[in-house]
Amino acid sequence: MSKPRLYSGMQPSADSLQIGNYIGALMQWRDLQESYEAFFSVVDLHALTQPSNPADLRAKTRRTAAQYIAAGIEPSRSTLYVQSHVRAHAELAWILSTITGFGEASRMTQFKDKSARYGADATSVGLFTYPVLMAADILLYQTDIVPVGDDQKQHVELTRDLAERFNSRYGEAFTVPMPVIQKDTARIYDLQNPAAKMSKSAESDAGVLWLLDDPAVSAKKVMRAVTDSDGTVRYDRENKPGVSNLLVIYAALTGRQMPAIEDEYAGRGYGDFKKGLADVVVEEFGPVRARALELLDDPAELDRVLAANAERADEVADATLADVYDKIGLLRRL
Ligand code: TYM
Repeated sequence: MSKPRLYSGMQPSADSLQIGNYIGALMQWRDLQESYEAFFSVVDLHALTQPSNPADLRAKTRRTAAQYIAAGIEPSRSTLYVQSHVRAHAELAWILSTITGFGEASRMTQFKDKSARYGADATSVGLFTYPVLMAADILLYQTDIVPVGDDQKQHVELTRDLAERFNSRYGEAFTVPMPVIQKDTARIYDLQNPAAKMSKSAESDAGVLWLLDDPAVSAKKVMRAVTDSDGTVRYDRENKPGVSNLLVIYAALTGRQMPAIEDEYAGRGYGDFKKGLADVVVEEFGPVRARALELLDDPAELDRVLAANAERADEVADATLADVYDKIGLLRRL
């Protein structure tokens, strides 16, 4: 029997992924790729919604792919490719945009947040239709599950609605996907501002732990993370958001239960706890960073792997797109 399908992706919007991407998504991807037929993309078309210069975008695209592999995604087992290499994504996005309501797209909170932050003039139509392109990514592969962080849940729900709408109007063309969100690690917060989600586009660098940072820099950021004046290492998201965030990171990276970590640091100060976490972070990121830099030393080989994987992706995506074109009534080219 064939395995169920999994799809996920990340934007190449920074030189490095941050620990929220790693804990919220990549760690799940790595574990799930054994029991699913997995497709992982570097969504460079999505990244075009943020300004970047062409050389930078190319470099960030390779860097993101290298970090997937360094973190344990195996390109010989899972299909790891660059979104723009597979033309069907942009084509299906157009078709889906014709069945997406203007109001429905306007309700996407990421769009609302970003357009409010940058103003109407700096907000592109691409940013508005971003979730439709994301739906196309997912639906092209007849995806069963989409492992993501909490912030992408609404987009996956829109994807489900579009799949159901298309299927009922034109006939079954799409599998309706389920979001998979790890409850405890769905949202990692900024180390300096534990009320805000950690993000590649954070205003200040001090609160973001980058996968490719020098280990000494990551350790320093952990030591300087915002805590509170209570002094006990205890999980309490409401009253102790900073410490709770550090505990979530600690538990996720070590696979240990939260109470065991609280016990270990009972009666000890935040300094000890942060030192312990800094060691955990350095130990986890060190090998990933080294491997990613090694892969980036040979961009030709990396490009070759990505090209071979894009071919695999093309086959699946083209079959879905051809079926969609047929069902919606586009005249077939002889
Ligand atoms: P992106 O690039 O913003 O983030 C990639 C993944 O990392 C998760 N994530 C987090 N998880 C926990 N805590 C955080 N602080 C944190 N920050 C980011 C995100 O939830 C995501 O899973 N639109 C998507 C990319 C995309 C996609 C897709 C994803 C395009 N097409 C198809 C899945 C399927 C995005 O911008 O992710």
